[in-house]
Amino acid sequence: MRRNLLILAGTSEATRLAQVVSEAGIPATLSYAGRVERTKAQPLPKRIGGFGGVAGLIEYLREAEVSHVIDATHPFAAQMSRNAVDACAAAGIPLVALTRSPWIKRAGDLWTSVHSIDAAVSALPMSVRSVLLAIGRMHLNSFAERPQHHYILRLVDPPASDIFLPSYQAIVSRGPFTLEGDRQLMQEHAIDFVVSKNAGGASSRSKIDAARDLGLPVIMIERPIVNRERLEFERVEDVMQWLFHASTDLGV
Ligand SMILES: NC(=O)c1ccc[n+]([C@@H]2O[C@H](COP(=O)([O-])OP(=O)(O)OC[C@H]3O[C@@H](n4cnc5c(N)ncnc54)[C@H](OP(=O)(O)O)[C@@H]3O)[C@@H](O)[C@H]2O)c1
Repeated sequence: MRRNLLILAGTSEATRLAQVVSEAGIPATLSYAGRVERTKAQPLPKRIGGFGGVAGLIEYLREAEVSHVIDATHPFAAQMSRNAVDACAAAGIPLVALTRSPWIKRAGDLWTSVHSIDAAVSALPMSVRSVLLAIGRMHLNSFAERPQHHYILRLVDPPASDIFLPSYQAIVSRGPFTLEGDRQLMQEHAIDFVVSKNAGGASSRSKIDAARDLGLPVIMIERPIVNRERLEFERVEDVMQWLFHASTDLGV
């Protein structure tokens, strides 16, 4: 039974899956968009960069003789997820998503839910505030629309010279983050507002818990909708089980 997996990566879920797949001795390649300068060391081969839309992905799947695709991208990487569903359907290759549930508002959370970066910018007050932006680096410049605020940026890579916020400080860290560490960061920088994506999962929720503890308001950017039917699991074990069943069902 031939298996050759393509794992769409860029998350802690993809890293966990890579470990298990490698230990099981299953051939696989991890795919990254190339958004960060240094990808994590992994026990599997990597490829980096976009495929060139659905057509490019179909071509890649055929040329690399991929048997199964596991979409372990971030919940906000909706375009990649849609392309993966469409390309796999066209190429007749089984696909599963390894994902995580969104965070749910709890008692004590002071969230304002919004559905876009622009709406998050608009949700900030006009008076000067200290704002923690824990949203990655792609959309930071949208916050230049509110130039009066001081922004604390949490980034994986040191910032390039393309950040056009008048007042900011970058804190470079890949995590893992802790409740105590995030509480301390918010206190040290006298944070008034936290802006977060509703990424879900355990690895980055400490900022949400710290904000609740400190009574800080959070502008929560809700997830984009993938808008495709697909099989989803939250546990690596379930993906591994599917892998063996999907193989049998499809005879690959
Ligand atoms: N968005 C976030 O907040 C966030 C947070 C943490 C990690 N990430 C990771 O960063 C990557 C990019 O996120 P995004 O929000 O820019 O995605 P996106 O908007 O859904 O993707 C835009 C394009 O980037 C390419 N791409 C995305 N993920 C890829 C992957 N794993 N391998 C190869 N190409 C990929 C594809 O280009 P082509 O059309 O040319 O194939 C895709 O159409 C994802 O892999 C995601 O897991 C994203």
